[in-house]
Amino acid sequence: MAQLIYVLNGPNLNLLGKRQPHIYGHETLADVEANCKALATECGLEIRFLQSNAEHQLIDWIHEARETAAAIIINPGAYTHTSVAILDALNTCEFPVFEVHISNVHKREAFRHHSYVSLRADGVIAGFGIQGYELALRRVSTLVGK
Ligand code: DQA
Repeated sequence: MAQLIYVLNGPNLNLLGKRQPHIYGHETLADVEANCKALATECGLEIRFLQSNAEHQLIDWIHEARETAAAIIINPGAYTHTSVAILDALNTCEFPVFEVHISNVHKREAFRHHSYVSLRADGVIAGFGIQGYELALRRVSTLVGK
């Protein structure tokens, strides 16, 4: 059976395509999902692609993933910079965790330079636009195999 990969998206990413397109681009989260699903099929992986504006929902999905998944790819949105609770949840997972940011957070405001999630992430991709999700998925595919 194909390995299951959770792709989690945090607050405001539901507005991708409409939200500050000069920073985040014109493609929507549905486009990201379609790209990830196509690549997952190619790699023999199964994807659970989710978005929530609520911190507790993201934590509940991480708890779910730790029982069922082989890896997590997460763009925690602004919770990246604030959430010890999401870090704690990710610290309960024993599989690969990758952090993705569409924008280059290091080129932006100082408060975006610190990430709680990076204390757990096995790798971080920032500033590659929505292609960052596919790059992370390719790395996951290499690590977890078919
Ligand atoms: C983001 C960067 C965060 O700083 C911001 O709060 C987001 C999106 C990104 O994908 O570039 O919501 O995670």
